[in-house]
Amino acid sequence: MAEYKKEIDQVTGVETTGHEWDGLKELNHPLPKWWLYMFYASIVWSVIYWVLMPSWPLVNGYTKGLLDYSQRAVVTAEFNAAEAERAETGKMLLEASLEEIRDTPELLEFAMAQGKVAFGDNCAPCHGAGATGFEGYPNLQDDSWIWGGDLDTLATTISYGVRAEHDDTRYAEMPAFGRDEMLEKDEIIQVANYVGSVAGLPTRQGVDLEAGKVVYEENCAACHMEDAKGSTETGSPNLTAPTYLYGKSVEDIIAQVDAPRHGVMPAWIDRLGETTVKSLAVYVHSLGGGQ
Ligand code: HEC
Ligand code: HEC
Repeated sequence: MAEYKKEIDQVTGVETTGHEWDGLKELNHPLPKWWLYMFYASIVWSVIYWVLMPSWPLVNGYTKGLLDYSQRAVVTAEFNAAEAERAETGKMLLEASLEEIRDTPELLEFAMAQGKVAFGDNCAPCHGAGATGFEGYPNLQDDSWIWGGDLDTLATTISYGVRAEHDDTRYAEMPAFGRDEMLEKDEIIQVANYVGSVAGLPTRQGVDLEAGKVVYEENCAACHMEDAKGSTETGSPNLTAPTYLYGKSVEDIIAQVDAPRHGVMPAWIDRLGETTVKSLAVYVHSLGGGQ
């Protein structure tokens, strides 16, 4: 057996390990010191970890470690703490007025989070995920309100709905002027074109708008008001609004005067409870159209 002696490789100038196979020699490139120390340190760390923390799986269970640490217990504790806080905040929300909620950052944040989720779950199918509405379902983001956009009014509308199955529901019904023969066909065309002219719509040629105005004043102004801006008292839509529930054209107005459509907004108070309804009012109010 050849005794090992330091040998320098001719070509690279690097020391060899002395190992040789068929004339090929192994160069000696030791691992950097910092790397070795890290390696030893991690071995030491893993031993400490085994001893202290849960680590080895066994047939029945696992080694628990001296610290008796459990991720599940930590999560459970955190969850319970969050639940307790939620119950607490929920109670404060129930007791606070809508204005107090709006003016208390902590309550507002909670109400907004709860309102957003409840809106997505319950309201988005009709009003759209962004609350911008669809035909027949009002946009809740704009400034045009059928029933009103202040906090208390919103809470009432959401609680009891419109034409809903609830004793306190909001109710308003436009008469069917054509179907019930309250107005002649001509009068309906006149009044629809008059409303169209007030709303800035293209009107039919040759229609007597002055006559339409008279029909309007006699039949419509009581609900939609003299200036056609509607009334939140009676839930009569603003006829000068940028969008209509049921289509904004003279033809659509004729259809509505002939035989109106009546949308139904469900009552939510029994289904969602007062806290959630409050959160929804605050959330809807924040969307930009609040009053
Ligand atoms: C089944 C469809 C439907 C669902 C679901 C629905 N709404 Fe409505 N909502 C309507 C209709 C239709 C109207 C218009 C009622 C009318 O003609 O006065 C309306 C009106 C409203 C108004 C009054 C708007 C105004 O201009 O005064 C508010 C506020 C409102 N909804 C909020 C909600 C909230 C919040 C939810 C979820 C909890 C919800 N809606 C769920 C159909 C729906
Ligand atoms: C008793 C009150 C009342 C009277 C009178 C009335 N309306 Fe209405 N109008 C309403 C209500 C409430 C609505 C909302 C739709 C509904 O009935 O569900 C409405 C809706 C409308 C709409 C649809 C608005 C939209 O956003 O799509 C038009 C257009 C309209 N009315 C025009 C008229 C004209 C024109 C007359 C007169 C010939 C008239 N209304 C008389 C209460 C009234």
